[in-house]
Amino acid sequence: MKTRRATALLAAGAASLLAGCSHVQSALAPAGDQAAAIERVWDLMLWICVPMYLLVLAALGWALWRKHSRGHTMGGDRHAAFGLAAFVILVAGLLTVLTASSYIADRRLHVAVTDPVKVRITAMQWWWQVDYLDADPSRQFTTANELHLPVDRPTRIELRSNDVIHSLWIPVLNGKEDLIPGRTNVIVMTPRKTGTYRGQCAEFCGLQHANMALDVQVDDTSAFAAWKARQLAPAATPSTPTALAGMRAFNATACAMCHTIAGTDAGGVTGPNLTHLASRRTLAAGALPFNRGTLSAWIADPQRQKPGTNMPEVPLQQQQLADIVDYLMTLQ
Ligand code: CUA
Repeated sequence: MKTRRATALLAAGAASLLAGCSHVQSALAPAGDQAAAIERVWDLMLWICVPMYLLVLAALGWALWRKHSRGHTMGGDRHAAFGLAAFVILVAGLLTVLTASSYIADRRLHVAVTDPVKVRITAMQWWWQVDYLDADPSRQFTTANELHLPVDRPTRIELRSNDVIHSLWIPVLNGKEDLIPGRTNVIVMTPRKTGTYRGQCAEFCGLQHANMALDVQVDDTSAFAAWKARQLAPAATPSTPTALAGMRAFNATACAMCHTIAGTDAGGVTGPNLTHLASRRTLAAGALPFNRGTLSAWIADPQRQKPGTNMPEVPLQQQQLADIVDYLMTLQ
């Protein structure tokens, strides 16, 4: 068990590292206004701190060389005193510049936005519930572990937690913001580049903290509207006999007690909403790519795929499992 957990953690770590290199999860490849403001501070810090570091090393080298070549001398060096005073002023000036730039960037992250897309993300061990809010309740819908955003329009995200403290971090769009039980935090993201990105829980929250990822998709306006329209629709009734049998098995077993599939009898709210499960790219909060094989393996033995997960192993016969997978694969 320990080896399996270690392997899972290593795999998740490697996935995060690769994600960083491929720019889907890199704070140095901003795809939105807020991340760009943060990256400018990072750049400024780099261009100030690297020369300063080299300057300090050079001064140290010079002092050591001087001590060697002249022997130990104390005081009386007006040039050294002048140099030191100039250095102190330089450091104070640069620190002021860094502090001011950090403050200005922080203000940019908190400007009020007009007509944002409204989303609520609720963190749970170890997945994300994503609710798209609307003044008209019939225009609201719920999904899980995926966040779709329209490009060039701000999205205001309310952040909550149902259990412990988590932290949402989508490096290409903004900095980290904690999700704290009993409190609602707010973060705004204004994407400027369409694409597929990755978010990650950034606060240690238990065994599967590393496997608490969020699939992020920035779409152009029409693609976002089309996605939203598909999400608003209830699940289609399956048309094949095995998928129909799968729907019945899903509703007759423990599955329906934890999961909602809109338009069916399944109305559990403990686990992720599965209404359009088959349209997602990942499974188990980014732990697995979504396909028939991983879905089947996940349901058959969740602890093997994500040790510690709250998803129980529901006792199913082979045929029941195959039918349920057939059914879930129809949930586009
Ligand atoms: Cu949730 Cu770490």
